Amino acid sequence: MPASSETPRVALVTGAGRGLGLEIAGGLARVGFVVVIGTRDPAKGHAAAAGLASEGLQVSSVALDVDDPRSVATAVAEVLSRHASIDILVNNAGVLLDGPDAQAASVLDLPPERLWASFRTNTMGPLLMMQTVVPAMRRRRYGRIVNVSSRAGQLEELRAGVPSYRVTKTALNSLTRVAAAEFQSDNIKINAMCPGWIRTAMGGSNAPLSAAEGADTAIWLATLPDDGPTGGFFRARTRLPW
Ligand SMILES: NC(=O)c1ccc[n+]([C@@H]2O[C@H](COP(=O)([O-])OP(=O)(O)OC[C@H]3O[C@@H](n4cnc5c(N)ncnc54)[C@H](OP(=O)(O)O)[C@@H]3O)[C@@H](O)[C@H]2O)c1
Repeated sequence: MPASSETPRVALVTGAGRGLGLEIAGGLARVGFVVVIGTRDPAKGHAAAAGLASEGLQVSSVALDVDDPRSVATAVAEVLSRHASIDILVNNAGVLLDGPDAQAASVLDLPPERLWASFRTNTMGPLLMMQTVVPAMRRRRYGRIVNVSSRAGQLEELRAGVPSYRVTKTALNSLTRVAAAEFQSDNIKINAMCPGWIRTAMGGSNAPLSAAEGADTAIWLATLPDDGPTGGFFRARTRLPW
């Protein structure tokens, strides 16, 4: 348990200045982790970290744009210089670029650059983060990686609409399985999860779940014991078919 171990484990959460990421960051800090909030805008990160630190939690921030390989390298080096380890990585940063009427968006009108932009954040971002963080996790033979995905990318449920988001979250799910299999013997557990439809800027105000409800499964996966699952897809702490 992080709260009782001598050195608290360190968690890095991407896209954590607001929405689900901020909720996950707060939740991890409350169960005893040292948390670093990654944000594109450093001012947003400072403000978010200060809000949580005012509750007595161990939270700081780092500038991190997951689209930018140099930003990823600099941010991870900065966190490792502050804390010596990154034990938990939550790949939360994500974009939904299919427009205001996303459910009706057609593949026939999907500009390739929109799909590339979605891949850059939703799929390549987590890949870059893993490539940068996993070597240190491997050396310590401990790691928990949570890829925040969506049922919108669940192959079994795929249907029309939201094309750039669906395709790039399906790819994230695939990446999750491939990476989990590769690092299984290093005690690095890599799982994908769907928070459900939650009330954030992306989910909108009509969503039935709070961000805290959505964060619960991510926090559970970030704190898995050594005999916990890897290479799975979860929602509400329950395994989903791919
Ligand atoms: N909301 C839902 O109902 C729902 C359902 C299923 C899955 N999800 C997933 O949950 C995750 C969080 O979504 P949310 O609902 O909290 O959405 P949100 O309110 O739109 O927040 C998205 C977060 O991602 C950050 N971000 C975007 N591009 C980034 C980049 N290149 N580098 C770093 N950060 C970046 C944003 O930062 P800025 O503040 O700088 O823009 C923001 O903090 C996403 O992966 C999303 O796909 C959400």
